[in-house]
Amino acid sequence: MQLLRPMQEKDINTVVDIIDSHDDEDAQEAKAGYNNTGGLQDQYVYEHEGHIIGVTGYATPPGCDETHWLSWTYVHEDHVNCGHGRKMITELIDFLRANNARKLFVKISDYKEANDAGAMECIYAAANHLYKDIGFVEEVVLRDYYDENETLTIMGMRLTDQDISEQGSPRPSTEKHKIQFNSIFEIAETDDSYSFGWTEKGKHLFNVDDVKIGLDDVRGREGRAVFLSFPHTYAGIADTLFAAGFSNAGLLEDYFEDGMHEQHYSCYL
Ligand SMILES: CC(C)(COP(=O)(O)OP(=O)(O)OC[C@H]1O[C@@H](n2cnc3c(N)ncnc32)[C@H](O)[C@@H]1OP(=O)(O)O)[C@@H](O)C(=O)NCCC(=O)NCCS
Repeated sequence: MQLLRPMQEKDINTVVDIIDSHDDEDAQEAKAGYNNTGGLQDQYVYEHEGHIIGVTGYATPPGCDETHWLSWTYVHEDHVNCGHGRKMITELIDFLRANNARKLFVKISDYKEANDAGAMECIYAAANHLYKDIGFVEEVVLRDYYDENETLTIMGMRLTDQDISEQGSPRPSTEKHKIQFNSIFEIAETDDSYSFGWTEKGKHLFNVDDVKIGLDDVRGREGRAVFLSFPHTYAGIADTLFAAGFSNAGLLEDYFEDGMHEQHYSCYL
C-alpha cells in the first residue's frame, strides 16, 4: 500500500480525535472497539504531509467466502473534500481485490443534524455520494432502524471480475432447516429495534404463532420494530414471516458465497 499503513496502538488517540471531529458518539464506540483484543486487525491509517488525517479498514465475517465489511472510515473534518477519502477507500479496495476479496459491504445511516443555518443536513451525505460514485449499490434498506426516521442502508460492491453467471446463479430455496428462536434482544446502536436469536438445532421450523409470540414480547418491551435475516436458501421462512406481518427488506447478494444471498426482513409494530 502507498498511502495507507496498518494502524498501531500508538495511533488510537489520533484516530479517535479524527472520528470525534465529526461525531463524538462514534468516536467513543470506535475507541472501545480498537481497544478490544484484535480491534486493530485490518485497520489502516492514512497519512498526509506527515500527519494521520484518515482511517479506514475492513472486518471479515465468519462463515463467508471472501466477504468483507468496510469499518470506521473517516477523514478529519479539517481535511474533507480534498480528495483524500476517495484515495483512501480506492487504495483499500485495490488491496482487497489483489487479495482475492469477492464482495465488500458498507452500512450507512441517513442521520440528520441541524447545520449552522438551522437546516437539517445528513451528516453522512458525502460518504453516501462517494460510496455510490466508487461503485457501491444499495442492496438492503431498513427504514426506522437506528431510531424513528433514521434508516440503515447496506450497500454492496462486487470486487472480483470473475464471471459468476454459471456457478453463482441463485440457488433455489429448498433446504429444509429446523430453525427455532432462542432469544429476543435489542439491536446494538439502535433505540428500540429488536431481533430474534435463532438456532438450527430446533425440532421443527418456527411457525407463525412462534413469530407472533416474539412480536408480542417485543411490544411488551416497547420495541418499535423487529429485523431478521436468513440465508435465502432456507425454505419456508419467507412465507411464515410474511404471514406474521414481516416484509421483504432486500437481499445482500452473494453474501455467503456466489449464489447464496442473505435475505432481510422487517416488521414495524
Ligand atoms: C466520507 C469521508 C470519509 C469522505 O472523505 P473526503 O476526504 O471528504 O472525500 P473526498 O474529498 O475524496 O470526496 C468527497 C465527495 O463527497 C462530495 N460531497 C461533499 N459533501 C457532500 C454533500 N453534503 N452531499 C453530497 N456530496 C458531498 C464531494 O463533492 C466529493 O465528491 P466528488 O469527488 O465527486 O466531487 C468524510 O467526508 C468523512 O469522514 N465523513 C464523516 C464520516 C463518514 O461519513 N464516514 C462514513 C460512514 S459510513
